[in-house]
Amino acid sequence: MATKNRIFSIAISLSAAFFSAQNNAIRTYHLDLKENPANIKIQPTMYGIFFEDINFAADGGIYAELIKNRSFEFDEPFTGWKQPHTKTLSQNLDSGFLTFYSDPAKTNKNYARITVLNDKNYILENEGFRGIGLHLGEQYDFSFDLENVSGNIAAVNARLVDENGKEISSVSTIIRKKGWQKYNTVLQSPRTVEKARLQITFTGNGVVNMDMISLFPQDTWKGRKGGLRKDLVQKLYDLQPGFLRFPGGCIVEGRTLAERYQWKKTVGNVADRGYLINKWSTGFPHRLTPDYGQSFGLGFFEYFQLSEDLGAEPVPILSCGMACQFNTAELVKMEDLDPYVQDALDLIEFANGDSATTKWGKLRADMGHAKPFNLKFIGVGNEQWGADYIERYKVFEKAIHAKYPDIKIISGSGPSPDGEFFEYGWKELKQLNAQIVDEHYYNSPDWFMKNAARYDHYDRSGPKVFAGEYAAQSVGVVKPDNKNNWLTALSEAAFMTGLERNADVVYMTSYAPLFAHAEGWQWTPDLIWFNNLKSYATPNYYVQKLFSNNRGTDLLTIENKGKALSGQENLFATAVKDINKNEIIIKIVNTDLQAKKISINPVNMKVGKKFTQIFLSAPQLSSENNFTAEPVKPKEETSAFKNGKISTEIPANSLVILKLNLL
Ligand code: AHR
Repeated sequence: MATKNRIFSIAISLSAAFFSAQNNAIRTYHLDLKENPANIKIQPTMYGIFFEDINFAADGGIYAELIKNRSFEFDEPFTGWKQPHTKTLSQNLDSGFLTFYSDPAKTNKNYARITVLNDKNYILENEGFRGIGLHLGEQYDFSFDLENVSGNIAAVNARLVDENGKEISSVSTIIRKKGWQKYNTVLQSPRTVEKARLQITFTGNGVVNMDMISLFPQDTWKGRKGGLRKDLVQKLYDLQPGFLRFPGGCIVEGRTLAERYQWKKTVGNVADRGYLINKWSTGFPHRLTPDYGQSFGLGFFEYFQLSEDLGAEPVPILSCGMACQFNTAELVKMEDLDPYVQDALDLIEFANGDSATTKWGKLRADMGHAKPFNLKFIGVGNEQWGADYIERYKVFEKAIHAKYPDIKIISGSGPSPDGEFFEYGWKELKQLNAQIVDEHYYNSPDWFMKNAARYDHYDRSGPKVFAGEYAAQSVGVVKPDNKNNWLTALSEAAFMTGLERNADVVYMTSYAPLFAHAEGWQWTPDLIWFNNLKSYATPNYYVQKLFSNNRGTDLLTIENKGKALSGQENLFATAVKDINKNEIIIKIVNTDLQAKKISINPVNMKVGKKFTQIFLSAPQLSSENNFTAEPVKPKEETSAFKNGKISTEIPANSLVILKLNLL
C-alpha cells in the first residue's frame, strides 16, 4: 500500500498534465486523416527487441538449462552445488568429498572428481536457478560426462526432490566404460514443482570424474534439444519484432576489457564454450548476485537462429575496445585495436559467409545452418561516449565498409538523451556520415510525455535514429522500487506516437531491459517477468505489442486543426497504412484524467463502414500485471461509422488503436 501511495504521489508531482481536467464536459476533437505528402515508409525494423543477459535473462531464463554451473567453471567452482551429508567441502580426497580438477588447455577447464567411500551416504546436489522448475507430465533430458577413474562405481542415480526433500522422480544410469563418456537418460515429472533440486547418488564405491551435468526440458521452443524456454520465446514471437538486438547492453563492453563479450567464445560445441562471470552479478550493491554466470549455451549461433525464428533482423552489437565507462572505462590502445575489428569482420563472415569456402561460414554450417543468416546490421560499441569512441568507431567503419559496403553500422551516442556527451557524439557522427545512431533514455513518465515531439525537429538528412534502449522509470533510474505500472506504459505509448510520426528519421526502437527473473533480477523495470514455471507480460509489453503488431508500411498524417497531436490537451496520435493488409491503423493516446471524444475524417480515402477498436487501459495508473492476473491487457471490439466518420471516445488514461479497411 505504501508503494502504491508513493507511485501516486510521484505521478501527481511528475505530470500536471494528468490532472489538468478542469471541467467535466467531454470535448470532441475533429481529426483529419490524409495521405502523407512525403511518402514516408515505416521501416520493417521500426519495433524490435533488445536482449541483454541481465536479470537471469539467459542462464536461468530463456536458455532452458536447469542446472546452475553444470561444468564447474564458476570462479568459485562449488557455486550451485552442495553435499548435504558431508560436514565441509574439504579437498581431502580420503574423505569422499567432491574436489575439482582443471585442464588449462581446455576452455571448459574444470571437472569434478568425486570419491565415494560410503555409497549409502553420499549425495551431490544442484539447486538450479533459484530452484528447478518442473511441469506435470513433462520429460527432462538428464545427461552428464563421466570418467570412471577407479573402484567399482556401477551406476549414477539421479533424483529430483521437492522443497521438502520428497522424491519426485528418479532414474539410474549404468556406468559401463573406463574413459570419458557421455551418458543420457530421461526423467519424467509427475508433479508441477517450482523449486525442485537435483540429487545425484552412486551405486558402489570409487572415484569418478564428472562434467557437463545437465537437465533440460524436452518441451523447448521448436522442440530443439538443449534449446530455449518455450513460454518466453513465445512472448517474443508474439511481439512480431522487426529486429533482435543482442547481446546487450553493457554486457557487450564488460567491466574490464578481459570481461567483454567475445562472440567467438560462444560458438561451436556447447561443452567447449567459454565461461564468464556476468557483469551484472556485481552491478548494484542492493542486488548482488554472485551466482550469476554466463555459460554461453545461448551463444551467437543461437541468437542468430532465434532472430530467424522470430522473423527479426539480427542486430549484433560488438565491443569496440572500450570497457564499460561506468566501471573501469579500460581502453584498448589504438595500435592494439586490430583483433577487435577482426572480430567484427569475422562475425559478418560467420553470419553471411559461404559455407564451403570461408572459415567462419563453414563453422556456421557445421553448427547446422548452411544457409547464411543474411546479416544487415552491426553495432560498434554499446553505450560509449567521448573522443575515444569516435576515434575507434572510425577504424571499425572504414574496415567494415571496405569489405562489406552494404552492412549498416550502428554507432552509439552515450547513456543520455541530451547533454555534453550526447551533443558531442551526434556532432561527430553526423560529420562522419554515420548511418544509424543509437540513443538511450531511462527517464520519468513525465519526460516521456513531454518528449513526444523529440524527433519532430531532427535533421532529415543526418543519420537515422535507433532508440535502442528506453523505459519510463516510476521512481528513478536503477531504483529497485521501479514498477512496470500503467503510468509508465502509458507514457511510453505517448512517446511512441512521436517515434512513429517521425518514421523518416527513427528507423529502429526497442524497450530495455527485456526479461527479469522474479527472484534473480538486478534491474527494474523490465518488459517480461518470469519465475521457474511461468511468465507474465507487463503493461509495457502490451504497449510494445500493440505498436509492433500494428506497425503498418506507410506513414499517414493525422491532424487536429492542421497540427499533429503530440500532447496538446494530453492527446497524442499517429496513423499508418498497411499496404499488404489494405488497412489503416490509427493509434491515439489520452493521458488526461478525462475521456476525449474524437471524430476522424478520412480525406480522399475510400474506407469500409466498420472499424475495430483495441483498448488498452487500467483501473489505476499504479495498476500492474503479475503471475496470477493481467488486469492491464488489450480488449477489442467492432464499431460502425457514424455519418461517414469514425466517432469514438478515447477513455481517460488509455491507448486506443483504431483499424479500418481500405476499399
Ligand atoms: O538496460 C540496462 C543497461 O542500461 C544496459 O546494459 C546499458 O546499455 C544501459 O546503461
